[in-house]
Amino acid sequence: MLQEIPTSTQALREARPCVLETERLTLRKPGLADVKAIACLANDRRVAEMTRRLPFPYTRDDAARFVTTLGQSDETVFLIEADDEPVGIVGLDWSDRDAPALGYWLGVQHWGNGYATEAARAVIDLAFEDRGAKQIVASARVINPASRNVLEKCGFQWTGVELHRVEAIASSTPVDCFRLTRGVWSSLKSWSATRRGR
Ligand SMILES: CC(C)(COP(=O)(O)OP(=O)(O)OC[C@H]1O[C@@H](n2cnc3c(N)ncnc32)[C@H](O)[C@@H]1OP(=O)(O)O)[C@@H](O)C(=O)NCCC(=O)NCCS
Repeated sequence: MLQEIPTSTQALREARPCVLETERLTLRKPGLADVKAIACLANDRRVAEMTRRLPFPYTRDDAARFVTTLGQSDETVFLIEADDEPVGIVGLDWSDRDAPALGYWLGVQHWGNGYATEAARAVIDLAFEDRGAKQIVASARVINPASRNVLEKCGFQWTGVELHRVEAIASSTPVDCFRLTRGVWSSLKSWSATRRGR
């Protein structure tokens, strides 16, 4: 349990570069060598307009700024790789330590393979198992059923609608808000472990 770890050890764990492996994906910290790939994947209106902060067009300078300023924010960010190829980004914004916000996007050519759900589950497990989150929040534009499906497959429950500013459309727009509590996550983990043991 995170609460039992002395603060200094916890700080060390959080400082260590973290790589997550799933069945098909590797999640690792993005670096300058990934700038070109990130810019290619993100520079698409269909991606940017569904996220809060990606500008459109999205240039290599935007990607370089993104990777070089990673250490300056309250975020845990992973580059998602499938078959050693970058496919997108997943991360947690820890501005609220008890309730980090989950976000993700994939290059359009990589949609529809279940990658977002697989990557989100790995980051959710990290947040609850290692980082002491009490709940995780997320949001998706009301016109984004794919993202809503990802969140529901991960166990998130709808909590209401808010207006959020979306950089790529330079305006505010309605979003569905979701929450995954530690209790629901833990029940889902026990249920799937029981099923695997059958
Ligand atoms: C949202 C996004 C990450 C989903 O990635 P993905 O890897 O295709 O997602 P998954 O395959 O894990 O799951 C998507 C689910 O939505 C379903 N889906 C996809 N498009 C859909 C649509 N137009 N209507 C309804 N369901 C849809 C898929 O069938 C799948 O569900 P299933 O597994 O039950 O079949 C990707 O579309 C994306 O990057 N979009 C732009 C950025 C974005 O929306 N980010 C999230 C911000 S909240």
